[in-house]
Amino acid sequence: MTQIKSKAGHSTKGFDDMMKVVSFLAGISIRGIAEIFDRFKSLYFMTFVWSWISFLIVFSNYKHLKWLHLLFPNVFTPTVVEILVEEMPIPIVIHTLLLIVSPITFLGFLYGLFTKDKKKEISQALGHLGLKTAQGREPIVSKVVNLDEHRQRILVSSIGIGVDRYLDKKSDLEMALGATVESIRTTANNKFIEILSTTKIIPTMLPYSETAKYITESLSFPIGESLGGIQVQELSTLPHMMIAGASGGGKSNFFKQTLLSLIKSTKNVQVYILDLKKGIEAKEFSCLPNVSIAKTEIEANLLLAKLRQEMIHRFDLLEKNGRIAIDPENDKKDYIVIAVDEASVLYGKTKVSKERAKNVTQARELTDDLAKLGRAAKMNLIIATQKVTTDTIDTKIQENMGGRICFRANTLQGSMTVLGNKMAFELPDIKGRAIWANGTTFTEVQTPFVKEEVLKDEINKIKSEFETGARSNFSLPFKATIEVTNGPEPT
Ligand SMILES: Nc1ncnc2c1ncn2[C@@H]1O[C@H](COP(=O)(O)OP(=O)(O)OP(=O)(O)O)[C@@H](O)[C@H]1O
Ligand SMILES: [Mg+2]
Repeated sequence: MTQIKSKAGHSTKGFDDMMKVVSFLAGISIRGIAEIFDRFKSLYFMTFVWSWISFLIVFSNYKHLKWLHLLFPNVFTPTVVEILVEEMPIPIVIHTLLLIVSPITFLGFLYGLFTKDKKKEISQALGHLGLKTAQGREPIVSKVVNLDEHRQRILVSSIGIGVDRYLDKKSDLEMALGATVESIRTTANNKFIEILSTTKIIPTMLPYSETAKYITESLSFPIGESLGGIQVQELSTLPHMMIAGASGGGKSNFFKQTLLSLIKSTKNVQVYILDLKKGIEAKEFSCLPNVSIAKTEIEANLLLAKLRQEMIHRFDLLEKNGRIAIDPENDKKDYIVIAVDEASVLYGKTKVSKERAKNVTQARELTDDLAKLGRAAKMNLIIATQKVTTDTIDTKIQENMGGRICFRANTLQGSMTVLGNKMAFELPDIKGRAIWANGTTFTEVQTPFVKEEVLKDEINKIKSEFETGARSNFSLPFKATIEVTNGPEPT
């Protein structure tokens, strides 16, 4: 009796061991199949073709069995072949399936043998972070997807371990993965932590010309290159933008490349440049008929007042027609972009003279109105400034800036006031490197660099488009002169 038990015990153990080996080998095949199909997308098509060929082979009197008999006569004897056909339920279907699956399983097995187990590698990397619940439960890697040759999407089942704990260990995770972590967040269903990682690095220079092909929509401009590729933004969706950061970071260059892109991408746009550094940064644009420049506080206020008048006029039009927003094409109204470089000069509180203080208050009030109501009137603001404090830019104006780009900040406080976090303070010292903030998303970017010659060249092209009639506006822009106009002059 004892002997029988022991024999039974042995055979169960033998069976268990065999199952372990089978499941180990099956695991390699399954992983290999998943990865090979993920990597070589053409395999889907090849499998489709192979399925048809398999069907034809089986349909033409089980030819594959004849070939097997020729290759292995001692295994596939006539009796075995007969059993394989006669004794099998719906043999055509089963043979076809086996014929389809066998080479795929074999290929998958070979591929699985020679590739690393990504899930296992990432589990080990996560293990180094020591993330555990109070009960000692660790995160489990559920899925690893290759988004492209550089980027990976890792889904982690993380019961009891919140996203904040991963964010705290971001740099440890980067070291463990040997890749940069682009983002860590909870998936929409709150079931997984999603980690996007990349082995790519952000370039230290992005020539403007490389971004040109991405600017396709009206009123769009490039933000720069992030780990996820080149980012483009439509100004109207913001609808206002602030450009901030310490001196020499790249604000004016960004200001100019943005204006150039907006003009290039938009058929009907008037651009107002308020550049109180005597119009130095705006001078290349001055030859364009759709651009108007203010170089002094008085000129700036004159333009802002005319623009507010235009906004009121556009709202009257909307009220009359019972609509909520201007449609530039149908209403024959140009998009309007009001761009202020060195905004602290225009808006900065001062006690130098009563006259100047009055100008500042007026500029603040006019800009505040435009920032609050400009969206529906298709009037957008771009404000570049070194300092962002309530003394330089009114809080009400700041609040309406849907998009913010912040170049390197010299102080933690500087970064906090623009972005609400320390990211701009921690930026590497690279010209043109910035944090792009849109809503609650913060992305590190290398902004496009537009060389002086390229800028001149592009502006000359636009100028000649106006001259040949290939481009025209609905109205000419207002000028920063004293004479009172009731509306835009006709073209
Ligand atoms: N995107 C960029 N890529 C590479 N270099 C850049 C980039 N932007 C600016 N630079 C370099 O940095 C210098 C300073 O840029 P810019 O004048 O735009 O800075 P700024 O932030 O406007 O400075 P300030 O506050 O003093 O006006 C430029 O002359 C240029 O050489
Ligand atoms: Mg500047």
